[in-house]
Amino acid sequence: METSSLKNLSKDQPLLSDIQTLRKRARQHIEGGAVTSGYAADRKTVIKLLNEALATEIVCVLRYKRHYFMAAGIHADPVATEFLEHANEEMLHADRIAERIVQLRGEPNFSPDGLSLRSHAEYVEGDSLKEMIKEDLVAERVAIESYREMVAYIAEKDPTTRRMLEEILASEEEHADDLASLLEGLKD
Ligand SMILES: [Fe+2]
Ligand SMILES: [Fe+2]
Repeated sequence: METSSLKNLSKDQPLLSDIQTLRKRARQHIEGGAVTSGYAADRKTVIKLLNEALATEIVCVLRYKRHYFMAAGIHADPVATEFLEHANEEMLHADRIAERIVQLRGEPNFSPDGLSLRSHAEYVEGDSLKEMIKEDLVAERVAIESYREMVAYIAEKDPTTRRMLEEILASEEEHADDLASLLEGLKD
């Protein structure tokens, strides 16, 4: 790639760092892995936020699993299927977040100690099908708000993490929508 092609034609300021500088920077701090010196976010804060999101996802997996088995027991099959689907998707979210934490040279916190305190969403069992759906909807809305805030905080500073969070956010919005429909279906 030619260095000159990276220049903004109308100004002296290059659009991107020139290729030599990019290569030199990549060689420095090789142990940084995916984290290069151009990483603009506060890495420690991002890792902390991601660990809170990880705890939230794990708590959501546990809550949906509980709801799945309880709902399956009361023959509420379509609802139970939905709970199981959500549990599996929350697990995939957790995996993506843990993977990103490692890329950022952090450590994913899977410890059960203090898990519910680190989580944004709560673990509520609910004693009827309607209560379960309601609690799941509340938890999804909490997750939606916190992902939205994280996306806003990260903004342009770490596009990879932001993109992942936006994709998870979209998935949580679908979950909330599914639950709202289920709740609607239970009325009257
Ligand atoms: Fe999730
Ligand atoms: Fe969700």
